Amino acid sequence: MKIFVTGHTSGIGLATFNLLKENNYDVIGGSRSTGFDISNSEQYKLIYDCDIFVNNAFHKTGQLDILRSVYDAWQHLPKKIINVGTANKDNQKNRPYSRLEYNVCKKSLETYSYWISENNSICYSMMYNPGFVKTPLSIEGLKGWPDIEVDRILSQAMDVDECAKTILFMIESKHKLKEITHTY
Ligand SMILES: NC(=O)c1ccc[n+]([C@@H]2O[C@H](COP(=O)([O-])OP(=O)(O)OC[C@H]3O[C@@H](n4cnc5c(N)ncnc54)[C@H](OP(=O)(O)O)[C@@H]3O)[C@@H](O)[C@H]2O)c1
Repeated sequence: MKIFVTGHTSGIGLATFNLLKENNYDVIGGSRSTGFDISNSEQYKLIYDCDIFVNNAFHKTGQLDILRSVYDAWQHLPKKIINVGTANKDNQKNRPYSRLEYNVCKKSLETYSYWISENNSICYSMMYNPGFVKTPLSIEGLKGWPDIEVDRILSQAMDVDECAKTILFMIESKHKLKEITHTY
């Protein structure tokens, strides 16, 4: 079974990539530093001959574009897609524009994944929505936040290995899960 993971050089993607390798899966990673960019649709075909796609790396509309493209190729095949969304996409209060844009992108991704999962297609799409996870992306996102808020969030942060274990569980589950959300 061949698994493609985007964003495999850091954070959740790296932990997932390593855990899948440890579990003897044939896993292929795609990140910009290794020549794969989710904002370049010409490269999406590299995923088509895999069996499972972990849609992890975030880039504005790139995560939705790649889901649509892979689903178009896989809709009549017994394959699985796991999209990494976020648990905290509905809270817009006191958020900067960049966060609003991020939440809108994650919401669209989720809406499309739900549509696939309700479509009775043999290709199945699931959402994995982690809470705050300590990674380079999330630490960058805390810049400018009040110290007290930063301390509170970091004290509740999830570990990347916990996320990787959940993704492995979703890959191996025989059930058609619509989503797993970790609230915090
Ligand atoms: N960390 C959190 O608290 C948290 C919470 C909820 C959801 N998430 C979601 O989890 C996913 C992973 O986040 P993370 O925190 O693990 O991020 P991260 O540590 O910053 O890692 C991002 C990974 O994505 C790759 N990447 C970035 N842009 C890319 C592009 N255009 N094309 C291909 N690869 C790209 C990066 O490698 P290159 O730089 O080499 O491309 C890197 O491997 C994201 O979808 C994020 O929204 C994170």
